[in-house]
Amino acid sequence: MVKSIGNKKIKTAVFISGKGTNLRNLIKFSKLKKSPIKICLVFSSNRLAKGLNYAKKYLIKMKIYNFTNKKKAEFLILKDLKKNRIDLICLAGFMKILSPDFIKKFKGKILNIHPSLLPKYKGLNTHARAIKNKDKYSGCTVHLVNARLDSGKIILQKKIKIFKKDTVYKLKKRVQKQEYKLYPKAISKLFFNL
Ligand code: GRF
Repeated sequence: MVKSIGNKKIKTAVFISGKGTNLRNLIKFSKLKKSPIKICLVFSSNRLAKGLNYAKKYLIKMKIYNFTNKKKAEFLILKDLKKNRIDLICLAGFMKILSPDFIKKFKGKILNIHPSLLPKYKGLNTHARAIKNKDKYSGCTVHLVNARLDSGKIILQKKIKIFKKDTVYKLKKRVQKQEYKLYPKAISKLFFNL
């Protein structure tokens, strides 16, 4: 695992595909003195991703790669990561599946936030599935990324109660509010053993 050295912050890249509210939150966290990370690069698989506006606003270098040719996109991303000496990747609403080869090259240095209590509900539509199954709880998980989808080592989880009248929208809102606390907490835990 990456370790922060002295006062030096860990150079981090955030991968997004959409709204980027977790990106915004991670940027704010990275600006705190106590934060172990510095966000140096934002990658998007979607040129229309709203989240790119946060990269612009905070003057963070951003790159957009079309994943229709995944091999090429990953090759170019790896080049960017190396050039910018990136040591940590945070996936935040990144809707593409990275290849095992890519993950191997960055083993133990890729984090993801997933909107369920893993190992329950890997993949998409997690809130709808939890409501449909009449689960009592949903939540979110920060985990290390390995070659199997949403299956890497869990760093932290937060449980959230599902109410009888919950809709996907309402539940998602409540879970996301917790995501914004959990991701920074998990990063701190990873680097400072908090
Ligand atoms: C989050 O709910 C996260 O759990 C999931 O994708 C969503 C991304 O939202 N992986 P945003 O783009 O950060 O607003």
